[in-house]
Amino acid sequence: MKHKLWGGRFTKRTDPLVERFTSSIGVDHRLARYDVIGSIAHAKMLGRCRIIPSAESRRMVRGLERLLAAMRQGRWKVNPSAEDIHTQVQQGLERLIGPVARKLQTARSRNDQVSLDLRLYCRDAVADLSREIRALQHALVQLASRYRSVVIPGYTHLQRAQPILLAHHLLAYVEMLERDSRRLADAKARINVLPLGAGALAGTSLPIDRRYVARLLGFPAVADNSMDAVSDRDFALELIGVLAGLGIHLSRFAEDAILWTSEEFGLLALDDAFATGSSLMPQKKNPDVLELIRGQAGVIIGHLTGFLTVMKGLPMSYNRDLQWDKRFVFESVDASRQALAVLAGLLRRVRVRTERAEALVASDALCATDLAEHLVGRGMAFRDAHEVVGRAVALAQRQGKSLRQLGLPALRRLSSRFDAGALKVLDPRRSVARKRSLGSTNPAQVARALARWRARLR
Ligand code: ARG
Repeated sequence: MKHKLWGGRFTKRTDPLVERFTSSIGVDHRLARYDVIGSIAHAKMLGRCRIIPSAESRRMVRGLERLLAAMRQGRWKVNPSAEDIHTQVQQGLERLIGPVARKLQTARSRNDQVSLDLRLYCRDAVADLSREIRALQHALVQLASRYRSVVIPGYTHLQRAQPILLAHHLLAYVEMLERDSRRLADAKARINVLPLGAGALAGTSLPIDRRYVARLLGFPAVADNSMDAVSDRDFALELIGVLAGLGIHLSRFAEDAILWTSEEFGLLALDDAFATGSSLMPQKKNPDVLELIRGQAGVIIGHLTGFLTVMKGLPMSYNRDLQWDKRFVFESVDASRQALAVLAGLLRRVRVRTERAEALVASDALCATDLAEHLVGRGMAFRDAHEVVGRAVALAQRQGKSLRQLGLPALRRLSSRFDAGALKVLDPRRSVARKRSLGSTNPAQVARALARWRARLR
């Protein structure tokens, strides 16, 4: 039992089945750096508070820094037979500096330690994810700028609704990503609370200085209740919650883009480097990347649901169930980071088929609302205008004509308020240009939004 952090009261070897079942090194080795960083702060505090001689504290810090350097240089190897990362770091330190390393666990339990490690990991993950969200926003803004004058049909209920600028559609996703980014920043406030010093659950009789450790590790706050400190995983749940929201946004974008790559829409041409083929049908060029992103949202939602379910019945305070937390967190963060990166890459190389966009907006029924608003401008109540234009649309359909082909005389038979300007509004480019409300698809407003985003993302 010598290799364990807790062997003293046991008289039998742990059953190998139990060893394997309880081990977490296969997952929590990813916390290695953070375990050492937290241990350095803890060792410094032990010396400063005279809980151990300062020479021993310095020796521990030097040893831990060597471990950290080895990790940074890729010279550190996971020991699969260690119970968990905390055990392996402790053993690694003992090998470097001898038995004095055994003082590192003074006034510390793995319960407060693992929460600290995970918080440090989450803090870095938030920084990485925020950067990658910005990069994706940037790619969307670039694409929108490149095709700033392209008009496409806008849809509700997946039925053609009104003409919009493609750039306006793309900027909607930039806004969605901005909310994800702000939610990440908010989540950081809950991540950045120091659990260390809670001990196993009750605190410690030794004269530790938690505020000093918090300062060293850049935590603005210290957990106020030691029992909450070791049993709380809200910060991690919140992070995965944010990632589930982000996943939904990426999935919805992927769905739009998948539709647009189909021949029926034909709006997008994926670069060959970002598409895949079929093993059977030689002609196929498939949007697998986008489909995997769409599916991944389901995986992350599953992690959130799984994690919530693990948490829901736990009695106070630490319970080993909590060990499952890391899998949910790591896999959600990895999935999100991959999706953000590959989507940004795909967008940088995608081509919009502008000739197809022209064809898609050619039908002037898309401008029926503009025609109704034309009548409103000439004093008609909108309900009546809606009715009149509805009848015009039905008439055109019966005669197999466009609204424009009906001609002014036919329109005037439906309402004398139609005047010479009526046919002119039946134009997709004019339709977007006529929009004037704040936040609309009006080209001048979209250009201003693009400029604003470009400045913000620089
Ligand atoms: N591997 C454990 C976890 O991830 C570390 C804490 C273990 N604590 C304990 N009392 N067994 O949660």
